[in-house]
Order: sequence, then C-alpha cells, then structure tokens
Amino acid sequence: MKLFDVYPLHNIAIVRAEGSYVWDDQGTQYLDMYGGHAVISIGHTHPHYVETVVNQLKNIGFYSNSVIIKQQRELADKLGKLSGKEGYQLFLCNSGAEANENAMKLASFHNGRKKVVAFKGSFHGRTSLAVAVTDNPNIVAPVNRTDNVIFLPFNDVTALEQLFAQQGAEISSVIVEGIQGVGGIKVASPEFLQAIRRLCDQYGTVFIADSVQCGCGRSGKYYSHDWAGVNADIYTMAKGLGNGFPIGAISISPKIAPKYGMLGTTFGGNHLACAAAIAVADVIAADRLIDNAREVGEYLMSELRKLPGIKEVRGRGLMIGIELPDDSTEIRKRLLHDEKIFVGSSGKTVIRLLPALNITRDHADRFVTALKKLLTA
Ligand SMILES: Cc1ncc(COP(=O)(O)O)c(C=O)c1O
Repeated sequence: MKLFDVYPLHNIAIVRAEGSYVWDDQGTQYLDMYGGHAVISIGHTHPHYVETVVNQLKNIGFYSNSVIIKQQRELADKLGKLSGKEGYQLFLCNSGAEANENAMKLASFHNGRKKVVAFKGSFHGRTSLAVAVTDNPNIVAPVNRTDNVIFLPFNDVTALEQLFAQQGAEISSVIVEGIQGVGGIKVASPEFLQAIRRLCDQYGTVFIADSVQCGCGRSGKYYSHDWAGVNADIYTMAKGLGNGFPIGAISISPKIAPKYGMLGTTFGGNHLACAAAIAVADVIAADRLIDNAREVGEYLMSELRKLPGIKEVRGRGLMIGIELPDDSTEIRKRLLHDEKIFVGSSGKTVIRLLPALNITRDHADRFVTALKKLLTA
C-alpha cells in the first residue's frame, strides 16, 4: 500500500530531536523555528516529558471514560492555575478540529441556536463544522457546506454590531482566533475581542476562543485572547498542549452546565495523553515559559524589524509573521537547505515562526543573522 498523497513534502527525513534542534537521517542538524506547526511547546524530547510519558506507559496507557482517570483531574487543576481560569471546566478530546467541533456543538446545546459567526482568514480545522467555519473554499467539501455559518471581516467592530442588531437572537456562537495563524499572523485587536464579549453577553451568544495555535502560552499570555482583558466562554486547545502527543481540550465557563452524554469520546483524556499534557504544564510553570515566550518574542520581533527588505513583522510572543514584499518560497527554501533552519509560511508572502517556548536569544540571533544574509545577498 502506498501513502495517500495529500502533503507536499520537504525531501528530508527527520529521525531525532532535542530541544530546538532536529536531525535528519544523514546526521544534519537543523534549528527548529517552527515546532512542527506550533506543536512543540517545551522543546523536543524534554527529559521530564519523556520520563513522565514512559513511566505512565509502564503503568497503564489507556482505559475508557467509564472510570475515574486521576490524571484528568490533575491536568484540569494545572491548566486552571496556568491559565488563571480555575473556575472553568475541562473536556478532553484528541485534536484541534475536534476541540472546535465540540465547542460549537456545546454552544448550540447551551442556547438551542444554529448560527455561527466566523471571520475572513480563519482556520479552525478540517472536520465538518470546523471546516465550515474555516475561510478556505478549497478544503470545504460539498457535504460540509451549510447556511448556518456567517463570515464577517476580521477586526471589524461595525460589521459585527450590524449583524448582531439584525440577527443577534439567532446566533449560537462566535468563533475567533486571538491571532490568526494560517490566515497570516493577524492579531485580533483588543477592541474587536471586547466587542465580541459585549455582544455575546447582550444576545446570549457563546464566545469561543480558538486557542489551538495561539494558546498554551505561545503569545506571552496563556491565551492570546487574554491580551484584550476579556474572558471567553469556551477556549479550544490542542497543538502545544501535548508537545507532540495528540490531545485536544476545551475549557468551559462555569455558566455552561454539563449533562451526561452531551459530549463524549473514546480516546480523549486517556492516561497517556494526560500524562504528556501534565508534563508540559509542569515545565511551562517551572521554567516560566510564558514569560520567556513574551521576552524572547519581543526581542526577536524588534531585531527582525531592523532588517531590510521586510514589509511587516507581526505577532505576539513566539507567534510571529514576517511579511515579505514578494513570494517567500525561495527564501524559505534557502533557510532550510543552506542555513538549516525550519520555518513555516502563511500564504505566499509570510514566513511563519512558531518555535518552542523555551528558545533562547542565541537561537533568535542565529535566525536573524541567517535571514539577514539571505535578504541582503
Ligand atoms: C487555529 C487552529 N484551529 C484549529 C486547528 C486544527 O487543529 P488540528 O489539526 O489538530 O485538527 C488548527 C490547525 O492548524 C489551527 O491552527
């Protein structure tokens, strides 16, 4: 059997990793400024993480959600503390799309409504409702199309107010990334997130903060939406939560009540996934990685802004977009093959950086020096 060919691949086989470095099967070392799409939060193969996951596996890897899984409660406590939202409730699943799917479904159960507001440039995943609120017709199959989703321009308070004035009583939820990732590292303005909060309160709509990419401390606060000083009703998480172990979660406001059977999953919240996420939460807290993300991120962005040939540097913490005047493909290829640095992209012109939250100024300097060399060559 061959692989179903849906991914354009770099011709590199990664076989080993440590911290912010990965090695290919030829022994070549690469600096990882992309963390495998924002997944690597505490660095590859972190010793505490490896030890915790291995020890857990020796005891038990999985049992179903029909028994008490103490690790779920420990994880809920730790995430409540880390995020500063201890009164919230945790539901565990397996991926970012699944987290968003569950969030929108829960909102609809909660207020009995059907319509969801999403924004231009959004990416929320590839399952049915998650892809329906994703602004990319190329990945929406005919079966996913629905009249229940309304797309509005991002960061446009007036458009939001007008829509709510007309249809507010029918809107179940608003789903918004605090920083659009796939959409080009576009930061939601505090006024915009505050307006969403205000209108959701006024009309009984559920505010869903998609924190799958911008959450788990990456922005320099646990949730990037925290920068606006507002609380969402549901936060969705995945990626950095498990540092590579597949896990998704939603953190749910106390005002939304659970009912037996309303949500469920076979694998979500299993012992092994929880152990991985607990180890991640431990390291983030012990090593003050949210502060590091903010500090190194600010430093990196300020150094990048000094470089010639860049149109704009955007982002918060260690979620950074470098917009070039033209297509970034060639520069990214040269970063990878000549400078041995992994980066990502958003669209054609934006280089996307999503490194581990414990990168140092030295890593940042190495990247800036390499990019400068290519931009001035
Ligand atoms: C903001 C956002 N939401 C949701 C998802 C979907 O997550 P997953 O690929 O784990 O389903 C992604 C993935 O890139 C994302 O960036």
